[in-house]
Amino acid sequence: MITPETIQRVRDAARIEEVVGDFVRLRRRGANLIGLCPFHNEKSPSFSVSPAKGIFKCFGCGKAGDSLGFLMEVDQLTYPEAVRKLAERYSIDIEERQQSPEEQEQAQVKETLFQINEAVANWFQAQLWETEEGQIAALSYFRERGFTDETIRAFRLGYAPKSWNNLGDYAKEKGYKEEYLQTLGLISKSERKTDVFRERVMFPILGTSGRVLGFGGRYLIKKENSPKYINSPESEIYLKREVLYGLFQGKQRIIKEDECYLVEGYTDVISLFQAGVENVVSSSGTSLTSEQIRLIRRFTKKVTLLYDGDAAGINASFRGIDMLLEEGMEVRVVLFPDGDDPDSFARKTDTEALKTFLNHQAQNFLAFKANILMAEAANDPLKKAEVLRQMADSLALIRDNFSRITLIQDCAQRMEVPEEMLVSEINRRIRKRISERNQPEPEQPEAGEAIEDEGTPALNLPEPAQSHKEIQREAAQLGLIRLAVLYGDRILHFSEGEEPFSISALTYIIDELAKDEIQLPSPLAQSFLETLDILDQEERWSEIQAVLIGHEKPEVQHKVLDFLQSPYHLSQYWEERHNIITDREDTLLKKTLAHSLITVKMNVLIDRADAHRERLKVLQEEQRAAGPEKLEEFQHQFFEILVEIAKIQKLVQRFATELSRVIIR
Ligand code: CTP
Ligand code: MN
Repeated sequence: MITPETIQRVRDAARIEEVVGDFVRLRRRGANLIGLCPFHNEKSPSFSVSPAKGIFKCFGCGKAGDSLGFLMEVDQLTYPEAVRKLAERYSIDIEERQQSPEEQEQAQVKETLFQINEAVANWFQAQLWETEEGQIAALSYFRERGFTDETIRAFRLGYAPKSWNNLGDYAKEKGYKEEYLQTLGLISKSERKTDVFRERVMFPILGTSGRVLGFGGRYLIKKENSPKYINSPESEIYLKREVLYGLFQGKQRIIKEDECYLVEGYTDVISLFQAGVENVVSSSGTSLTSEQIRLIRRFTKKVTLLYDGDAAGINASFRGIDMLLEEGMEVRVVLFPDGDDPDSFARKTDTEALKTFLNHQAQNFLAFKANILMAEAANDPLKKAEVLRQMADSLALIRDNFSRITLIQDCAQRMEVPEEMLVSEINRRIRKRISERNQPEPEQPEAGEAIEDEGTPALNLPEPAQSHKEIQREAAQLGLIRLAVLYGDRILHFSEGEEPFSISALTYIIDELAKDEIQLPSPLAQSFLETLDILDQEERWSEIQAVLIGHEKPEVQHKVLDFLQSPYHLSQYWEERHNIITDREDTLLKKTLAHSLITVKMNVLIDRADAHRERLKVLQEEQRAAGPEKLEEFQHQFFEILVEIAKIQKLVQRFATELSRVIIR
């Protein structure tokens, strides 16, 4: 047990920008640093690190935390593992509390189990290579399957001989406790206490760091009443949910290729590996678990599933695929020709042909799923509606805005439904998820996991009813924001003044508002404007939509979805409203912006003038109550307010003139 003092020392020493900087290339942006989020796929940076606060936060996927939280997530470490890693990085000695006798005992048992498995794996290997029985029965079998000696050694394949109690005798000789062999599933727990694996080729299952966690044993000859494979049971050292076969051998290549192939079984992994496709794993024994997905994600976000053409198997795996999407993985699929599985196909082709085939055949999984489901639904409209819902379920899981939009187009086409139908189904799900995510969490955070709560947006608080005027005012402000979101990255050219210049539409909007000291009274518009302001300062005009769709406030996200999904056509607006046809889009956008800006400014100013008039009324009351002797004092204040109102009136007049100019051309 690491002492709390050590943990504190580690926390104090760790600098978030350094810890994150080991994994993410960071650039400075004001007081913070930004980079591409390591937890979800993105092309423009929405991952922000605050050295002052010692925390990171991704505005795209919402992940946030401190240095320890970052390491736990990025490296899939437990809390103590993360503490140790940071302690090492900052050369801090770790003080440990004495383990309790039970803890020590448990750690020792685990260590012993690992040692026994290691010895047994070596023993199975020896049976394969060094005994006549092994060579004749098993080695020839492997060679027939096309495995080279090198491959057989790389995967530490072995053989469990036919006769009873071979392993039992070996274990006795080595002094291993029978109880441990039973725990590991090597010796049966029944009365007879015999070897579990007999006359089988043995596939040791290795953990990420290469330790032997368990075994899979395949029969050599098909026998009634005997399963094709016997697999080790779960134990303290073999948690099946957390293990991927082949990961130890393949992890380097997975990182290098930035891609992981997922296959069904041991032999598929081995055949592909031998054929030169080393970035391959199998979730053998279980259907894909979220722990396994996170394990892959330590190395890559791209998973390609390799299926033999059996439709039943594909259908059954849809659930696993939604899990992959939920974890932010990019999922593709390769379908093998009839009668072939990855194993048999790899044996038939050479490396180049295999790789070409895999690259060529890989298609986006959701597009593929749409095809299968539509074929099943045929011409049944009820089934088609169900397919639409199923596809929307999956598409809504895709975090990356741009890949989602592309996929929506593709899937809508394959399903022969209008894009809008799919979009509205998807939006409903995203909205629901956003509001669910913002419900207060019932669980308490785990000890030591001091993740800063940025404040839950008050989405569900009843808001005071707005007056008609306020609704109109807000609509005008959001109209301006909509232009900023949709067209903020367009470049506007101005040549009227002395020197022609070009600026982004967003800069134009921000400058115009700042020039007249206009703040948007709508809290929603203001939330937008704060982020837009930062984006403008940082010159990230092309990222406006991507950043806002990941905004921390759900009401902002909702609004952006509205803006994006119901495009607002400039020309339509102008032609309908003002019955004019403009020649160039540039002119059109400038006019639309000017119109929207002036409307908003005028609204704000008129409201400001109204507020001043209110103050005048109050002052009058106060003066009357105070009596004539205080008149002079009050007059001074009256005068100040009147001057303000006059200024505003002048401005409003100017805007009114500008507005008419904008409209008339
Ligand atoms: N499997 C299992 N138990 C079984 C059958 C299969 O655990 N009774 C798992 C194994 O992980 C195996 C995978 O499913 O690797 C694929 O099964 P299969 O293709 O039948 O195994 P192979 O050994 O590849 O057999 P074949 O040579 O017939 O392809
Ligand atoms: Mn097979």
